[in-house]
Amino acid sequence: MDDPVKRHPTRTEQLDILATLVSETVQGDGTILDLGCGVGYVAHLILEKRDNLSIIGVDRNANALQQARENLAGYKSQFLAIEGDLENIAACKIPEQPYRAIYTALTFHDLPDAAKRHVIDYAASRLGPDGVFLLYDRIRLDAAPLFPLQQSIWSRIELVHGTAMRTADSFESYLEDLGTDNRPARLTDYLSWFPEAGLVPQLLHLHGNVALIGGAKT
Ligand SMILES: C[S@@+](CC[C@H](N)C(=O)[O-])C[C@H]1O[C@@H](n2cnc3c(N)ncnc32)[C@H](O)[C@@H]1O
Repeated sequence: MDDPVKRHPTRTEQLDILATLVSETVQGDGTILDLGCGVGYVAHLILEKRDNLSIIGVDRNANALQQARENLAGYKSQFLAIEGDLENIAACKIPEQPYRAIYTALTFHDLPDAAKRHVIDYAASRLGPDGVFLLYDRIRLDAAPLFPLQQSIWSRIELVHGTAMRTADSFESYLEDLGTDNRPARLTDYLSWFPEAGLVPQLLHLHGNVALIGGAKT
């Protein structure tokens, strides 16, 4: 299955890390929740590594979910697609079982901050005692004086990977590009929201400003 998200040079490595962490952390068979599953690309990476796991994918886009069902047809009994809006996650008909792992990839920047916090709270409440929450997304840059250094990091990534990350010519144009489909939270927001939800947070991996953050139940 091809990655549906193009123009993101470090996504391949980071999703491989995410899929590896999920596949290694869930012992035996188990069910995992994918919040914002899209066409099922991340679920596919995990099921390729561990075909005794089951994944429930939630997304608001019915077409993406249909595509996910087709893409994961080879894992028919192990993938369940649920249509629902994460901005009202309590109304999504997600089975209540305790989950060993819940992850979300490149979806949180679409959510308002209040919804981000609700989803983190929800994930914490649905994890089993050894459960982990893995959040992979862009993080918001808010230090104008450091923006040129961030640009240098982006340039280096482009040099190494041959493709540019989502970037900006100036801090002002970075801010102008923020909007309803691009409203990432700051790393410091996540580091305070996770403990408020009962999760110990840790920054597990960072490429440019795209972070993989883990949360464990306290
Ligand atoms: C960039 S795609 C990432 C898909 C997948 N996680 C991946 O990495 O390949 C973001 C996904 O989040 C979904 N999404 C965004 N906001 C959502 C919301 N409020 N509720 C449910 N899904 C949402 C979109 O429909 C889309 O499928």
